[in-house]
Amino acid sequence: MSQIHHVVHPLIQHKLTLMREKDRSTNSFRRLMGEISMLMAYEVTRDMPTQLIDIETPLEPMQSPVIDGKKTVFISIMRAGAGFLDGMLNVVPGARIGHIGLYRDPKTLVAVEYYFKMPADMENRDAIVLDPMLATGNSAVAAVDRLKETRPKSIRFVCLLAAPEGLKNFTEAHPDVPVYTAAIDRGLNEHGYIVPGLGDAGDRLFGTK
Ligand code: URA
Repeated sequence: MSQIHHVVHPLIQHKLTLMREKDRSTNSFRRLMGEISMLMAYEVTRDMPTQLIDIETPLEPMQSPVIDGKKTVFISIMRAGAGFLDGMLNVVPGARIGHIGLYRDPKTLVAVEYYFKMPADMENRDAIVLDPMLATGNSAVAAVDRLKETRPKSIRFVCLLAAPEGLKNFTEAHPDVPVYTAAIDRGLNEHGYIVPGLGDAGDRLFGTK
């Protein structure tokens, strides 16, 4: 059963509108992505397991819940995933980090892997895959195919914008992986860009062309 979580929140929608504006500066775009990723982290970690530990307040001892952040691994799909990573780490600072490097062949739009590095002991970790743009879904499908070889305890996928084509492709390939997205746009153009979208997330994040 696929699960698509369309995370609708006025703060996220507002910041996303600002990010879409074509004249927004690199600095502002990057800051907004960081802010949205913190808000998305709140949603994607909503059912993270907690355990009770013994503490003492100034008034008395108590048992109180904590999360074990080390069990979480954020997987950044290079390079735009980096824009999502900082905000997530602000909220779960103890998390481990993995990287998957993929580029889209501009002719075929097929994902080609050039880098893959995960922490040890993936079997005991909950993986949260980060890629701001779920366009054709080919990169996301390839990234999760590869990640599954390391057998993480669970996998979630978080993006900022999704195209219906990408959602369909991804959820058909990985019906067991929940997708969290802040917006579902109209579709893809002939170059595989999300429309209306926000352009090339990597270029806008890093100020490249
Ligand atoms: N990647 C991007 O950065 N933008 C798109 O619209 C599609 C893929």
